[in-house]
Amino acid sequence: MATLLTRNYFPLRAKRDSSRRQQSGRVYTWCNDIGWSRGWKGILKNSLGVLMGVGATCGALLYFLDRSVRAAEPVAHLPSYPWDFEGLLTSLDHSAVRRGWQVYRTVCHTCHSLRYVRFIDLIDVSHTEDEVKAIAAEYEIEDGPDEEGNYYTRPGRLSDLLPLPYPNDEAARAANFGAYPPDLTYLIFSKRNGRNYLFSVLTGWMEPPAGVSLTDQQYFNAYFPGNVIGMAQMLIEGAVDYDDGTPSTTSQMAKDLVEFLSWTSSQNFDERKQMFIRMVGIWFILWASILHYMRFTWSVLRSRQIAYIPKEK
Ligand code: HEC
Repeated sequence: MATLLTRNYFPLRAKRDSSRRQQSGRVYTWCNDIGWSRGWKGILKNSLGVLMGVGATCGALLYFLDRSVRAAEPVAHLPSYPWDFEGLLTSLDHSAVRRGWQVYRTVCHTCHSLRYVRFIDLIDVSHTEDEVKAIAAEYEIEDGPDEEGNYYTRPGRLSDLLPLPYPNDEAARAANFGAYPPDLTYLIFSKRNGRNYLFSVLTGWMEPPAGVSLTDQQYFNAYFPGNVIGMAQMLIEGAVDYDDGTPSTTSQMAKDLVEFLSWTSSQNFDERKQMFIRMVGIWFILWASILHYMRFTWSVLRSRQIAYIPKEK
């Protein structure tokens, strides 16, 4: 089978087959199973070589420039954790997304917003429709104006955006001693090495080393740029009672949040991977059929030569 395939699809330059030569009057057509011609091969090889050379030079330049910048940062180097949903064929762990939502809802929502997420987005990702309706109804949403021009509050609906913890940025700063709790929706993308950064910051609080003096509202975090952060450690063991009974250790909660915030920053994470797998499948079928046609159906046309040979006297 293998020999058959190689012989048919990847022949070495086949010898000219003179038995197929036909004579039709004085015009000869003949057909050779010739492969790629030398000229094209040469051009392809040269351009590939040039491309690889340029790519490698640019890559090396960027790598060393990047390293030289990072060498000056006074923070601990981020560990690289094995996030299994980053694989080519793996999806997010949706029970972790659900737990992450629970941690966000219970702990982080007091200060951090998720201003680009709607309740409806959670359906079939972490919760069922009825559960999400119940969650939305727990929030008071400001709406209006009504017929008399007044603003009023009503229970949340599926189509609402998650309400903000503070009415505006100034209120958020004022409540946090001048430090602004950033929106968490796209945090994973807004930081270099976002997932490892988030996990490390959330587990990185420690006693300040000797010589570092902090005010009452400042805390020491090994991974926050500058090390002094205006947020206390929130993920203390047992801070959340998980629905599914998972023990809520600091690292478990941090990991679930990473998974949840990976989803918020890229809500079509799983669909894109599915599309990719389908696309590769379709490409493979197209590639195989084109190869087949090139070798068996069109090869006669591709390699045909027509020549006029004058009558010998
Ligand atoms: C009491 C309010 C409060 C709560 C609750 C809170 N944070 Fe914060 N958070 C802050 C403030 C304020 C800052 C800004 C700190 C600074 O800039 O010094 C911050 C900063 C951060 C940062 C660093 C952002 C950056 O720019 O690098 C992350 C990540 C973060 N919070 C995540 C969380 C998560 C996850 C939770 C829930 C477990 C949470 N926070 C709960 C107030 C809070």
